[in-house]
Amino acid sequence: KEESTVSITVVGASGDLAKKKIFPALFALFYEDCLPKHFTIFGYARSKMTDAELRNMVSKTLTCRIDKRENCNEKMEQFLKRCFYHSGQYDSEENFAELHKKLMEHEGGRVSNRLFYLSIPPNVFIDAVRCASLSASSASGWTRVIVEKPFGRDSESSAALTRGLKQYMAEDQIFRIDHYLGKELVENLSVLRFSNLIFEPLWSRQYIRNVQLIFSEDFGTEGRGGYFDNYGIIRDIMQNHLLQILALFAMETPVSLDAEDIRNEKVKVLRSMRPLQLGDVVIGQYKSHTKGGITYPAYTDDQTVPKDSPTPTFAAAALFIDNARWDGVPFLMKAGKALHTKRAEIRVQFRHVPGNLYNRSFGTDLDRSTNELVIRVQPDEAIYLKINNKVPGLGMRLDRSNLNLHYAARYSKEIPDAYERLLLDAIEGERRLFIRSDELDAAWSLFTPLLKELEEKKIIPEYYPYGSRGPVGAHYLAARYNVQWGDLRAERHQTD
Ligand code: BG6
Repeated sequence: KEESTVSITVVGASGDLAKKKIFPALFALFYEDCLPKHFTIFGYARSKMTDAELRNMVSKTLTCRIDKRENCNEKMEQFLKRCFYHSGQYDSEENFAELHKKLMEHEGGRVSNRLFYLSIPPNVFIDAVRCASLSASSASGWTRVIVEKPFGRDSESSAALTRGLKQYMAEDQIFRIDHYLGKELVENLSVLRFSNLIFEPLWSRQYIRNVQLIFSEDFGTEGRGGYFDNYGIIRDIMQNHLLQILALFAMETPVSLDAEDIRNEKVKVLRSMRPLQLGDVVIGQYKSHTKGGITYPAYTDDQTVPKDSPTPTFAAAALFIDNARWDGVPFLMKAGKALHTKRAEIRVQFRHVPGNLYNRSFGTDLDRSTNELVIRVQPDEAIYLKINNKVPGLGMRLDRSNLNLHYAARYSKEIPDAYERLLLDAIEGERRLFIRSDELDAAWSLFTPLLKELEEKKIIPEYYPYGSRGPVGAHYLAARYNVQWGDLRAERHQTD
């Protein structure tokens, strides 16, 4: 191991993702001594840049965590010295061959392992993988590529992308990122379920009334309209981030913690899902709104978005898993941009206590007395369970309270960014948190017919004001299954 080296090439080094996430994550790993002793980082992009210019660009993206201020500048200097740049086209085998030469010089005859992070538009994925594979593969160690969505826009284009990639690399060389899988609380889902006695026995239709997967952002598509308009919120968030969480939430116990065992179970869940019905989906798009003298733009105010775009920036859907464990339990998803809050959470609403003594004697509001488990993925990570509790005192009054695991209070350590974990896993060859191609196929099979129908029937989204709680249609959808969105109910109760 001492004598092997890892070369990480960030293809598309001057892009947004590279600057915001990849270089900072690599630095955080370096700071934590998680990178191998011999490593080199190369930025690769079309623009001309010197190593010094790349270092300058990267240095602006690096920060030290509050708990890691010690030696930070020194560490940054050391890190930047390991960063280099090569300018080239994404489809040029010749340019990749030049990169290969430079990599060899840095590798100094050691066993070389190479990781290519494709932080580039999807139309050049296959070209870049071809060039990396044919001209810049390692002769002595492994060669891996990390790709990130969009993986096509439907079953067909996704399958074509997979076929294209597999022409040049084997499935075990391809690491498909869904960065939600790298989030601390999403990783914790399996720990919660499988290493505690108390949750798993309740984890089924017998005790769970419904499950809610909620993603909301309090900003619009600012600056990303060009990308977004071709995809929409269902492809951007639901088909991947929320569906992945659903699969982990609902899967059966895997044979082991091995990547293949976990992914086998996830695929089984996805393949057991009922085709999505148009009637079980609500779509919305944000419109301009003025509040406190500030006017917030409509989605279609973006210069790169057509004025009559029907692309949804909000969607809510009811999904069902037709297997023995989940038969009849609605899994409600909600994802939206330009809403009133930024939040990602999983809410599990449990059934009513049968023959509840306290309802009979004290007429407690049934709805309030139902248990609810909330896993708040972000911000302010937490897991809390709503229980009924006696209000202290001589009388008998029940109150809904939380058993609360608040991460900031319990753990003093800052939570690593999802990209740190995922990059480290890719370097170590751990595939558990990456999407296998059959998972991707199953995810697309679920959403493709719906997406086609929405487009063919030209379904008009319900407009909602920027910064609001989203279209009312989402409430009617939930009500059809006797459900209230937990996030909104919680807010109401807070103000009670
Ligand atoms: C990305 C989506 O995958 O996830 C974005 O393309 C979205 O539209 C982002 O903003 C949210 O990620 P996070 O980690 O900030 O919640």
